[in-house]
Amino acid sequence: MRNIAVLTSGGDSPGMNAAVRAVVRVGRAADLNVFGVRRGYEGLIHGEIEEMSNSDVSNWVNSGGSKLECARSPEMYELSGQQRAVRNLREHGIDGLVVIGGDGSFRGAAKLVELGAHVIGAPGTIDNDIPGIDNTIGFDTAVNTLTYCINQLRDTAESHQRTFVVEAMGRHSGHIALHAGLSGGADIILVPEIAWSQQEVVAMVESRISQGKKFHLIVMAEGAGEVIYNPDYDAYDLVKYIDENTPATVTVRGCMPGHIQRGGAPTAADRIYATRCGKAAVSALLRNVNGVMVGELNGQMVEVPLENATQGSRPIDRELYDLAIEVS
Ligand code: ADP
Ligand code: F6P
Repeated sequence: MRNIAVLTSGGDSPGMNAAVRAVVRVGRAADLNVFGVRRGYEGLIHGEIEEMSNSDVSNWVNSGGSKLECARSPEMYELSGQQRAVRNLREHGIDGLVVIGGDGSFRGAAKLVELGAHVIGAPGTIDNDIPGIDNTIGFDTAVNTLTYCINQLRDTAESHQRTFVVEAMGRHSGHIALHAGLSGGADIILVPEIAWSQQEVVAMVESRISQGKKFHLIVMAEGAGEVIYNPDYDAYDLVKYIDENTPATVTVRGCMPGHIQRGGAPTAADRIYATRCGKAAVSALLRNVNGVMVGELNGQMVEVPLENATQGSRPIDRELYDLAIEVS
């Protein structure tokens, strides 16, 4: 192996830059030439590929977003786009590619492997929804950001005896909601993996009122809906329902921090994890391993076949959920 490339794909996540930095520096230390691909698969298909030096990634460890830029690439879903991507890798003499992204990006990576490319995935998504590993790059930062938002809302909730419904990101999964809900001391946590109903939420609020509780913090995962997963139901739908079904003394507000959760400087934990993932990805390429995602499981770096990493979603930690309810 002489030449490797790295790209970031799907939604950006804090720590992606630290992972690219590690790929560049670990790769170059192993005498590889390292190329950066701009705009994910879009850039791979359209030949936006440039060699990177160690100084190109100076000051990247601490920055959020993706300096290589991310994209969602419609062409990559087509065989013709995938073939163009593989052709571009060959034309640039690239023997190995590191794809930093989420499960969608890994589905794309698996297609490139089928067409003869050598690809390793590194888990870059705030959602922490990838099966086979315990953590994704950016999750810790997103949880900390949402915890901060809950803290801020708590002040007004307490001062005005209000009920707040805060919506967490996470696509189809409730990991951010659960972790930030627990760390922010939420009173009610609603995730798409565990069925709930609006009536139950109102009953919980009323029960809390009867216990003398004056304000209520509810964290609801994006798409948590009323049953398992409903993309058309958001925090404001629940606000409306609570407002219409509780006494006038209960005042309810909604808050959607949205993409604020995806931005910002990565936490120390995300920087360290991203660096370990970058190193593990280069190490896999050097050992001629192909078609796997690197990531952490039970404290160890592991390699998971891309087909396993793209099957279903990582389940919610039921014990942690029960604990969050127990202490609320
Ligand atoms: P994430 O990687 O964060 O899950 P997406 O699901 O949006 O983000 O996927 C990122 C990109 O990966 C898509 O825009 C597309 O270019 C590529 N991709 C996703 N699924 C597939 C697939 N089944 N086949 C080929 N490419 C795919
Ligand atoms: O996958 C990361 C994520 O931020 C999800 O939590 C969210 O559902 C989705 O991306 C939002 O995507 P977009 O940036 O296209 O609105």
